[in-house]
Order: sequence, then C-alpha cells, then structure tokens
Amino acid sequence: MTRRALIAANWKMHKTLAEAEAFVKAFLAPGCDWPGIEVALAPPFTALAAVGAALQGSRVKLAAQDTHFAEEGAYTGEISPRMLQDLGCTYVIVGHSERRRLLGESDEFIHKKLRAVFTHELIPILCVGETQDERRMGATERILERQLLAALNGVTPEQAARLVIAYEPVWAIGTGQTASPEDAERAAHFLRKIMQELWGTQAAESVRIQYGGSVRPDNALELMAQPNVDGLLVGGASLDPIAFAEIVKAAAAARKHARAP
Ligand code: PGA
Repeated sequence: MTRRALIAANWKMHKTLAEAEAFVKAFLAPGCDWPGIEVALAPPFTALAAVGAALQGSRVKLAAQDTHFAEEGAYTGEISPRMLQDLGCTYVIVGHSERRRLLGESDEFIHKKLRAVFTHELIPILCVGETQDERRMGATERILERQLLAALNGVTPEQAARLVIAYEPVWAIGTGQTASPEDAERAAHFLRKIMQELWGTQAAESVRIQYGGSVRPDNALELMAQPNVDGLLVGGASLDPIAFAEIVKAAAAARKHARAP
C-alpha cells in the first residue's frame, strides 16, 4: 500500500503576521510542486487566518499546533476544534511533547482532544515519543505503547484511516540529535504493529506515521527512505522557507526512488 507522504512544518511560538506571510510567499515561489507529497504548515494560532488566506489556490494545507477538546465554553485562552474548522484547518497537532512536558498534558487530556478532532472532521497528528531517560532504561516501547493506546482508546477503524502519528523522540527535538533512520523505522514499525492489533492490518496500514526531531535538509531523504516512515514533522528547520522546501524536495526524491522499478 502506498501512503501519501505528509511533510508538516511546526512553527511553535515563532513568527509575527508579517513574517508568516513572507514565509508563505517565498515558499510558494513559482515551480514548487512536489508530486506525491502533501505539505502542511502549522503557524501559531495568531497567524492561522493570514497563512490560510496566503495559501489559497495552493495545495498546501493549514494545520493548528493544538486544540481544546470542548466545542465552546468557559476556557479562557483556549481554542476549540470548531474554531479551527472554521478557519479552514485540515490538520491539528495533538499531544506534542512540549505540551506534555511543559504544560502537564496527560494521556487522558490528549485522548479527549483526539476524539474532539475526529468529531470535527479534522485530521489529528498525534505525537508520541520517549525521553532520553526512558530510552536509556530500555523503556521506549513501553512508553510508546502507553501513549498510543491511551490516546486511541475508542477510535474506530474508519477514523483510523485518517489518522497521522508522529514519532517524536523527546531527546531529538530541538537538540540537533536526530534519531537514526533505523531507530525511526523500528519505532514506526512498532507503532504500526500495535495499531494492527487494535484495528487489523488494513486499517493499520493506512495510518501515516511521521518522524520528528531535528529533521534537516541533509537527513530528510534517509529518514523518508524507511518503509514505515510516511512523513516528517519539522520544527526548527521549517522556519526557513528554503530549508523547508529542500526537506520537501528530499522527501519527494525518496518517494520517487522507492517507486522506481
Ligand atoms: P525540531 O522540532 O525539528 O526543532 O527538532 C520538531 C518538533 O518538535 O515537532
């Protein structure tokens, strides 16, 4: 089965409106079309509307970095999935390790968000990944399994067909220390195996699994060459339109190579 690759830019807390618009203009420069690759940009909430408008007429999708689970209500400072849908978002990142770690988001909270994202016909990019200490203790698979099963509780095989998982080892995020392609493949394969047990082979095979953590133009191709790695979630290197375009180009080259007889 060929899964459509998804390369997503996670800008985190970066870029003013003017900077976000300048990025889109440079990124969508004439001639940028990557066959077989889907691209999404996740700007901060403040720039979602402007980036959405700037992307009109292109095939690049709009993504949000987070959501609340409620449709509306007394949740000061929060943004609901209904609002994201209204803004034209296609994807929503859920359970990013920075939110788990710095803002104390629990597996249960992430589970509620994931369900809400599905309810609103948005596509979740569910992030899972182990810390350096967990890896050292040999607990990587146990952590991945716990995070995945907690989040996916009650998700149907039909919903699973739309799901995107991002394997993001915490020790690789923003550190310049990328997981080896073999490590990324091993984790992605493990995650797919768990989903196979949950929903059967067909549904598990349709889930796209991204790798994230210090992805750069010079390591994107190798990572994308792995059979279970279907995309990349890019932080730091996605802030520069030229570097991000090079990553997308590398992903397209890896896909083309994989398809060649
Ligand atoms: P990074 O971030 O590419 O800067 O390591 C990735 C992420 O947090 O999604």
